[in-house]
Amino acid sequence: MTTVLEQVNRQAVTDLAASPASIEGAAEVPALLVEHLTKRFLVGRKRKPVIAVNDVSLRIRRGEIYGILGANGSGKSTLIRLFSTLLTLDSGRVEVFGHDVQREEMTVKRVINRVSVDAAFFKKLSPHENLSYAARLYGMDARPAKAEAIRILARLGIGESRLGRPLEQMSRGMQQKVAIARALLTSPTLLLLDEPTTGLDPRSKLDVQTFIEEMRDTHDATIVLTTWPRTPPTVSRP
Ligand SMILES: Nc1ncnc2c1ncn2[C@@H]1O[C@H](COP(=O)(O)OP(=O)(O)OP(=O)(O)O)[C@@H](O)[C@H]1O
Ligand SMILES: [Mg+2]
Repeated sequence: MTTVLEQVNRQAVTDLAASPASIEGAAEVPALLVEHLTKRFLVGRKRKPVIAVNDVSLRIRRGEIYGILGANGSGKSTLIRLFSTLLTLDSGRVEVFGHDVQREEMTVKRVINRVSVDAAFFKKLSPHENLSYAARLYGMDARPAKAEAIRILARLGIGESRLGRPLEQMSRGMQQKVAIARALLTSPTLLLLDEPTTGLDPRSKLDVQTFIEEMRDTHDATIVLTTWPRTPPTVSRP
């Protein structure tokens, strides 16, 4: 069976006219440029090709919040992994802030951050320890990084007292928030969020949604996400 991404339903979630004026001058170099991107996997002993991404092109401007929608198996996560250099592409071109993901992989790694439901953490270590580790990987000073992480997590409803205990003692939703905080430590950045709010309660989904918009405005972040947090259901009271 061949799975084909027939269509990436693209939805510019935010009107660019609402973006900060300061980014207008930088609009020529897109945050993400994708041209005729194709990726296939060879599966099984017979190495049968499965086309996961088929001739996708898109251009995302700096400061944009961009949603990628598609059915299960349509290639959303594969796209995100291609953008974040975790997979090699078969044909086409991907550039992040003008840097080719294949030829300038290290430069691209420095300006992208990916959050996915399978966020990789040292589960025996605390959020503080995990975030300090990430900060050092990105060449940041631990102290300002820690202060920033505390601020972001407080904003997402996780108090400082929770940050010293092993991550494995946190619920999945809480771990997801730590993953989001980790991704937001650096700026400017291209944030790649693969189902960032899966597993979060409706209130937290809304928090993350508001927070992502704030990040765009305050951290010069460009955001690509698969699926978009839904508004919590209305509760009717007698
Ligand atoms: N490592 C892999 N090896 C083989 N096939 C893969 C691999 N990763 C993904 N695929 C296939 O590529 C296609 C796209 O998968 P992908 O995970 O990108 O879809 P998705 O849109 O993220 O789905 P979901 O909504 O379920 O998360 C599927 O047919 C999947 O089986
Ligand atoms: Mg997926």
